[in-house]
Amino acid sequence: MENKIEPCMTIIFGATGDLMNRKLLPAFYKLEFENLLHKSSKIIAFARKEKSNEQFRKEVLKSTKKFSKLKINDKVWKRLANKIFYHQSEFQDVKGFNRLKTLIKKICTKSAACNRVFYLSAPPSFFETIIANLKKNDLTASSGWSRIVFEKPFGHDLRSAKKLNESIKKAFKEKQIYRIDHYVGKELVQNLLVLRFANSIFEPVWNKKYIDHVQITVAEELGIGTRGNYYDKFGALKDMVQNHMLQLVALTAMEPPVRLDAYDLREEKVKVLRSIEQFTLKDVKNRTVRSQYGAGEINGKRVNAYRNEEKIDKKSNTETFVALKLNINNWRWEGIPFYLRTGKRLKERVAEINIVFKQNHSVLFDEYVKHTEPNMLIVRIQPEEGISLQFSAKVPGKKMIVDNVRMDFCHECRFGPNSLDAYERLLYDITIGDQTLFTSWDMVEHSWKIVDKITKAWRHGKVSNYNPDSWGPKEADKLIEKDGRRWYKPQKPSYSELLQNDSKQ
Ligand SMILES: NC(=O)c1ccc[n+]([C@@H]2O[C@H](COP(=O)([O-])OP(=O)(O)OC[C@H]3O[C@@H](n4cnc5c(N)ncnc54)[C@H](OP(=O)(O)O)[C@@H]3O)[C@@H](O)[C@H]2O)c1
Repeated sequence: MENKIEPCMTIIFGATGDLMNRKLLPAFYKLEFENLLHKSSKIIAFARKEKSNEQFRKEVLKSTKKFSKLKINDKVWKRLANKIFYHQSEFQDVKGFNRLKTLIKKICTKSAACNRVFYLSAPPSFFETIIANLKKNDLTASSGWSRIVFEKPFGHDLRSAKKLNESIKKAFKEKQIYRIDHYVGKELVQNLLVLRFANSIFEPVWNKKYIDHVQITVAEELGIGTRGNYYDKFGALKDMVQNHMLQLVALTAMEPPVRLDAYDLREEKVKVLRSIEQFTLKDVKNRTVRSQYGAGEINGKRVNAYRNEEKIDKKSNTETFVALKLNINNWRWEGIPFYLRTGKRLKERVAEINIVFKQNHSVLFDEYVKHTEPNMLIVRIQPEEGISLQFSAKVPGKKMIVDNVRMDFCHECRFGPNSLDAYERLLYDITIGDQTLFTSWDMVEHSWKIVDKITKAWRHGKVSNYNPDSWGPKEADKLIEKDGRRWYKPQKPSYSELLQNDSKQ
């Protein structure tokens, strides 16, 4: 983190929303705590309800206390609260943006913090309106730099993503645009490159010669909660695969970049997406599974079927689970499938990348390893971040019995609980102008190309059903079993008990 921290004004559009309360405010607090916010930086909270600065600061203190992993220290909070200003306006109100300009000018002359970050924590249907109003009021031009930040989803298909991108380009250049994929901000995801390219024991075996296949699981225990309006239009494929899961595929499969900078890294990731075999209609039938959770029980509590959730159409055909088999047609991965699965209301909350190695056949041990699992390298992204290596070992005793054992690296045990989490890291990177962890337009374009082919084929036919508290529908098992493989159940690593439940300091 050697880049110079510059003062800037972050204008949050949609500052009374869920994301601001749960993620952004705790992240700003952590940055303030770590002295990673410049003393002259400011946060302008743009939202539509009438309230004073004081009232807003009081409200966000409450939510920051609730959602921050850190215990709130009065002195640090006071420093942060003094940086926060509230601005009332509707996104559609041109005059409201004019008043915003006046406020920015006022704060800017006082503190010289004229650099601007426009953070769109707003419903995506307002993205283009906000950009147009920023432009109409000449807010994008300033004496310092200006940057704009987008949350997912970036469009709902390739066409809408292109249209949105064209609107943005009228006001901002690509180097000013920060498209967030918070998965990429997670420590263990960033660790993938170090794991792969800084270790002589892994780099030489990371290819089709030694790897049998890759499994990526992103499972959630929760249902869709109050996000029904959004979720029913998107579903698991667009909500999870188009962005987070394809980012994980790209980082796992990419070639080493020339340098560790934004341009080179993003170039290599795009090449992976370009190498993914496009789905034909027949492939969609054979290589994809979509399903929706039914009613059931989780931890002894009844849970609704998806179709009976709040704001969901009773006849909805939206998938809450998806499993895919991807083929990457390049030199390194030809013939090595990547199996992806993600869903809601599954057995447990877990995100893992599982690199499954080919079995080492030998006359000596073939008989003894028949029932063991293959060697695996498991990158556990959440909940307990770490890396596990599974290999075969002899069970103590006179007989030759071979079993699987695991060596676990626990990220938090080694480095402590206080590393920056995804949003903290991403907010910091925006202020120092580092786009490495953000999604480039090319990446968005190619991921929608892959996803659009699937959604087009899915227009006909119906989703299947799966039981909550399971690992998804039977069809997902069949998808991988027809290749003579199976999903490996995520296992709690040995260190999970060591980790304190309450990481508040
Ligand atoms: N929440 C998450 O975990 C999450 C995760 C990933 C991505 N995202 C993305 O982040 C963005 C924000 O999500 P969110 O969950 O925070 O949404 P949200 O809870 O619905 O909040 C939306 C915000 O926009 C404001 N707003 C809505 N219409 C407005 C208008 N016409 N004029 C002015 N303000 C208006 C709302 O104000 P009121 O309070 O007055 O309604 C609220 O502050 C979305 O793009 C979403 O897709 C969210």
